[in-house]
Amino acid sequence: MANKRRIKIIGTGFYVPDQILTNADLEKMVDTTDEWIVSRSGIRERRIASAEQATSDLCLEAARRALKNSHLSVKDIDLILVSNNTPDTLFPATACWVQQGLQADHVPAFDVVAGCTGFLYGMIVAESLILSGTARRVLLIGGETLSKITNWKDRNTCVLFGDGAGAAILEESKDDSGMLSFYWKADGSLANLLLMPAGGTRNPASLQTVAENLHYLHMKGNEVFKHAVKRMGEAAEEALKRAGLTKDDIDIFIPHQANIRIIDAVGERLKIPKEKVFVNIDRYGNVSVACIPIAIHELRQQKKIKPGTIIVLDAFGAGFTWASVVYRW
Ligand code: COA
Repeated sequence: MANKRRIKIIGTGFYVPDQILTNADLEKMVDTTDEWIVSRSGIRERRIASAEQATSDLCLEAARRALKNSHLSVKDIDLILVSNNTPDTLFPATACWVQQGLQADHVPAFDVVAGCTGFLYGMIVAESLILSGTARRVLLIGGETLSKITNWKDRNTCVLFGDGAGAAILEESKDDSGMLSFYWKADGSLANLLLMPAGGTRNPASLQTVAENLHYLHMKGNEVFKHAVKRMGEAAEEALKRAGLTKDDIDIFIPHQANIRIIDAVGERLKIPKEKVFVNIDRYGNVSVACIPIAIHELRQQKKIKPGTIIVLDAFGAGFTWASVVYRW
């Protein structure tokens, strides 16, 4: 392991919209209660983008903050990757809208779409590109405006999601800190359990697709739940094995923030003490690909990450996709 080349995060930032939607607000919109939402999901409030804000607007702000945090300018970046499931437009990629906003016309830009696992898939893609010499410094952003594809009349889904974006700047590490290992997988046979059914070429937009609410997120919640617990456990175990580490080496576990019961179940399966498990789902809900970069930045702000801290990142999402990254700060 000693001489293994690896990438590291040199700056982070995040942005969430100002508008807060509480469980009390949702009680006025659908047949639900604060008690049900908190006990079944752990969520108390979430952020909602304004009518004018698209995903790239949130990403842009997160990117500016990450650049500032790493004392870099746009000129220091040579690739933009954006993971999201709520693009500004089906094409071009949201990464190109972000590039336009940053005036970074010297760099290539593309999206990495992998459900809620997109940020970790993005880190893995960035690692390859950096270590192969294709890119020197990558701006990786995970951003969503899930509120725009949420059916606000469906209590099964509308209480769960929120909007936000997080960004990280990645480059090759010069010491033994950085990404130690990863594990990633997908199972497309389960794609129908979590999807936006219309608006693509399988089911193009029509008056009928709009009338049937097919442009909203659809999910078989309890099926997703079972797979998430199993696969996130598997991913973290495999990634740890590949890093030559054990569960006891984990200082901080950052799981995808989809449901506190999923987080608790994965933590229990891995036997990770609760105080090592990061949770902010109460404040933001499930912000999909933005969960992990927001978590990393919040932990840095709280000074909970120090040189040498071993962090395990773990995510699961539509596809299904799942992945884990073991990281030494
Ligand atoms: N308020 C009150 N009741 C609600 C409700 C709400 N917001 N949403 C659902 N219910 C009801 C259901 O209608 C159902 O009622 P019924 O028994 O009369 O039919 C009951 O609560 C239980 O529903 P169920 O789906 O079995 O609940 P659950 O314990 O599985 O929790 C989820 C539902 C969606 C919170 C949970 O399954 C989940 O989090 N799944 C994973 C979602 C996820 O992570 N998605 C993204 C992956 S990246």
